[in-house]
Amino acid sequence: MGRTAVIYATGMTKNTKKVAEYIARKIGADIFNLKEITMINITEYDTIVFGTGIHAGKPYKQLVDYIEKNKDSLVQKKLYLFIECMYNGEKGDKQRDAVAEQLGIQKAVYFNKKAEEMNEAGFPKAVDDFIAEL
Ligand SMILES: Cc1cc2nc3c(=O)[nH]c(=O)nc-3n(C[C@H](O)[C@H](O)[C@H](O)COP(=O)(O)O)c2cc1C
Repeated sequence: MGRTAVIYATGMTKNTKKVAEYIARKIGADIFNLKEITMINITEYDTIVFGTGIHAGKPYKQLVDYIEKNKDSLVQKKLYLFIECMYNGEKGDKQRDAVAEQLGIQKAVYFNKKAEEMNEAGFPKAVDDFIAEL
């Protein structure tokens, strides 16, 4: 495995930030908050894990803009997306598929606190399954 960067956009509740930090710590990745840092030397990474919350069905603008601006540098990389949201079930699946398509990322998951079993660190067990696949 080469180097991995976790790049995320988070809102007021910072749910995405908390999960991003947990993932980065577990896999030893570098981590970037798009609200604070917009210059990232992505040539250093072969795997990128993007994270975003959802407002009104849409991923956060900072992430949309980042991916759009850097799309040429991202084509050769392994890309993953995690979504922090409140919808689950069929609604959550549909929302994930729409967001994944909008961002052009195939490997996408969402985490929903309400519906899931938690691990000992207080995160959904699905986060650990996602980490195992990176
Ligand atoms: C104004 C607002 C709109 C939201 N819209 C959606 C939505 O359309 N779908 C959804 O699944 N979650 C929605 N949520 C829930 C957030 O995506 C969820 O709380 C997420 O964990 C926030 O991540 P953050 O703390 O990193 O910003 C909404 C939350 C707010 C405050």
